[in-house]
Amino acid sequence: MNFIQWATSPWGERVPIHISWDLLWASAIAGALFLIVHAIYVGYWAKPAAEPPQDSKQAAAAARLPERVARHSFGARAFHWVMAAAMFVLLFTAFLPKVGVRFSWLTIHWIAGIVLTVSVVYHIIHASFWLDFWSIWPNSQDLTDASRRLQRALGKPAPPPRKFGKYPLENKLFHLAVFFAGLAVIFTGFFMLYRVPTPFFTRNPYLFSDMTWGVMYVLHGLAGVVFVALIMAHIYFAVRPEKLFLTKSMIFGWISREKYLEHHDPERWPLEGGAPQTGQSKAPEAAI
Ligand code: HEM
Repeated sequence: MNFIQWATSPWGERVPIHISWDLLWASAIAGALFLIVHAIYVGYWAKPAAEPPQDSKQAAAAARLPERVARHSFGARAFHWVMAAAMFVLLFTAFLPKVGVRFSWLTIHWIAGIVLTVSVVYHIIHASFWLDFWSIWPNSQDLTDASRRLQRALGKPAPPPRKFGKYPLENKLFHLAVFFAGLAVIFTGFFMLYRVPTPFFTRNPYLFSDMTWGVMYVLHGLAGVVFVALIMAHIYFAVRPEKLFLTKSMIFGWISREKYLEHHDPERWPLEGGAPQTGQSKAPEAAI
């Protein structure tokens, strides 16, 4: 199978022009397989996590907790849903024509691309200055816990892993993958705007060499198809019964005190004076 479509430039150079659109199916099938294998694993093999006994420190912290623990500020939720809407429009406008649904996709696509870009710029500024920036990046504690979990799953002796901070390792890894794929589509998409009629730039297909354009189109397409599998997995987890409380928190902004204590380590996602330090803002009242 050839992963890239090639062409010959007017100067006789062999240049890449697109990815092979078979990769779209490869990504969709990989996404579907992941869902099926995960659902079978959880349904038939995975043991429910044993609840570690609550120590007196934790019980005291619970007594000080409000019933609703703030998890996502309005600004963070608005970003998530604007980005999600832009992402769906981008995926459908990009790939429906590739599977035979013909419509004029290009203008809708690049407008959604600009919405995505602006929302991501907002998110980077918001996360850098108002949110707890480091809460979403994997750290050494996550790796230690992951290795303990693996050892225990294999029946080897290992100390129990700690509960999570604000974000479990899986969410952090998903964010990392979206970060790289997102940067790739945005960076290449920005320059690709020079190839199509927009009100922003004078069209200039000679901005780069044929080879550089080709590499950009391939990178754009590759990151785009990776998003197909990533979004499938994301939606699958969002609707799984045990994760629904997280999905609801992306709508309403909070999780219950019980869910907070069940899944999170108050030392890793600490509370200030009994009120949740959401990781969203320096102080809950200031949540934006
Ligand atoms: C998840 C996000 C995105 C996906 C899945 C996606 C997917 C695609 C695909 C598959 C193509 C066809 C590429 C080809 O023919 O080789 C394309 C073209 C294009 N994309 Fe995107 N894209 C995304 C984000 C963006 C963004 C953020 C921008 C702009 C900032 C953008 C701007 C464009 C433009 C201008 C074209 C047309 C290029 C042309 O036909 O010459 N895209 N996109």
